[in-house]
Amino acid sequence: MSLFRLDSSIRTEGSVSREVADTVERTWLEQHPGRTVVRRDVGREPLPADLWTTAMGAGATPEADRTPEQRAAVALVGELADEVVAADALVIGSPLYNFGIAAHLKTWVDVLITDPRFAPGNQPLAGRPVALVVSRGGGYGPGTPREGWDHGTGWLVRILGDVWGGDVTVIEAELTLADTVPAMAELRPLAAQVRARAHETAGTWLVAS
Ligand SMILES: Cc1cc2nc3c(=O)[nH]c(=O)nc-3n(C[C@H](O)[C@H](O)[C@H](O)COP(=O)(O)O)c2cc1C
Repeated sequence: MSLFRLDSSIRTEGSVSREVADTVERTWLEQHPGRTVVRRDVGREPLPADLWTTAMGAGATPEADRTPEQRAAVALVGELADEVVAADALVIGSPLYNFGIAAHLKTWVDVLITDPRFAPGNQPLAGRPVALVVSRGGGYGPGTPREGWDHGTGWLVRILGDVWGGDVTVIEAELTLADTVPAMAELRPLAAQVRARAHETAGTWLVAS
């Protein structure tokens, strides 16, 4: 039994998505003592930028005619897919960058979809719980000027839930920039509340089910 954890924050210090994912991981390990956590950190160690196009090219090339680069790409994609399909539960950390997801996380999704197990229609995560931890610097709640500007979370829910079949719980921390941006100083108490709530949700993930 294992938990698959993917981080995509480009920060290693002060990352809120990593901090909340830590709480998810701790919660899962408390419920499954001694079990394994398999980690993939595309923020710290991005996948090669050309992996997707090379894997796509391999898919369109008969196996016997593939170049060494295409074979290596298919092997790496297989490894990435193996670690996800072997997991009993998943936690995915996703900061909002430029109103979307991290490019490295998008690459991870795109390359997985080149593996036949992840092709649309196959639901490789069916029956598996997925904690999607989202961190955003600003506020995107109903009635705020940026309502509807988070173009990352909805897309990830579509992929992880609707396309891959996972049972997705979204855990959101926002206003994370309030601590460091002077213009957001008055939002600090609210930011702290939102962050505490994210940890609370992370700390009860799967506990009640
Ligand atoms: C390059 C970059 C782009 C960002 N773009 C946005 C954005 O579009 N909207 C937003 O609310 N915050 C934005 N932020 C702030 C991050 O979402 C925020 O710092 C978040 O907490 C990052 O996740 P982390 O704490 O796990 O590192 C951006 C940060 C960086 C470094």
